[in-house]
Amino acid sequence: MNNLLSVKDIYKSFHSGSEEIRVLQGIDLEVSKGDFISITGPSGSGKSTLLHIMGGLEHPDKGEVILNKKPLYNHSDKELARIRNERIGFVFQFHYLLSDFTVTENIMIPLLIKGIDRSIALESSGKLLKMVDLENRAHSKPATLSGGERQRVAVLRAIVNQPSLLLADEPTGDLDYEHAKAILDLLRGLHRESGMAIIIVTHNKRVAQIAKKTYNLVDGKLEKKDEV
Ligand SMILES: Nc1ncnc2c1ncn2[C@@H]1O[C@H](COP(=O)(O)OP(=O)(O)OP(=O)(O)O)[C@@H](O)[C@H]1O
Ligand SMILES: [Mg+2]
Repeated sequence: MNNLLSVKDIYKSFHSGSEEIRVLQGIDLEVSKGDFISITGPSGSGKSTLLHIMGGLEHPDKGEVILNKKPLYNHSDKELARIRNERIGFVFQFHYLLSDFTVTENIMIPLLIKGIDRSIALESSGKLLKMVDLENRAHSKPATLSGGERQRVAVLRAIVNQPSLLLADEPTGDLDYEHAKAILDLLRGLHRESGMAIIIVTHNKRVAQIAKKTYNLVDGKLEKKDEV
């Protein structure tokens, strides 16, 4: 069947001193293979929290995330780490590129973790960098790149293992339109060519509109917007 990920009745709260911050209050979402979904919502509404829960990075208080028919959080920590490396690509809101490594090494890491030969990993990384016109920065350290360049590298690192699901948290952040467009073109191309399911969190209406299905996160719940 076409179902890839099911999110079922997810609840999540955080505690700050004696106060309870209720963030997610009954989230349901069905993701099919090849879906392109955007999630918008006010700052602090829980978009990153939801993405982390879907990506195997944070346990929900209640509810289930099912990836390929198996509850994600029933896996051992080791197995969950393998699934995150091979099946789920994650672009963090504040890209976590490793500063001591070059651009190429950052992109290669998920392949090396999987046990892929270094020469093959190098070749894959080179091909991806070429795709986004960054081959001339292959040996640079992330600190020397612009915000938009770093974000492109973060996307490449997330997709190098050809995951079936890509979760992107504000991948265009505060970028100007031209740089945002480069990232959107990359995501659109990946979606078209690989059929990867993409879920993108964004503040930007223009970015949200490139998705096929759009949702709004308000008061701890997801509201579906009209099909676009
Ligand atoms: N680890 C944590 N401990 C305590 N509170 C947290 C934690 N993570 C998130 N929160 C709180 O949960 C709420 C939702 O945070 P989240 O980062 O998911 O929001 P967001 O919708 O992604 O916001 P933004 O648009 O600003 O990125 C916020 O009130 C935040 O302060
Ligand atoms: Mg966020």
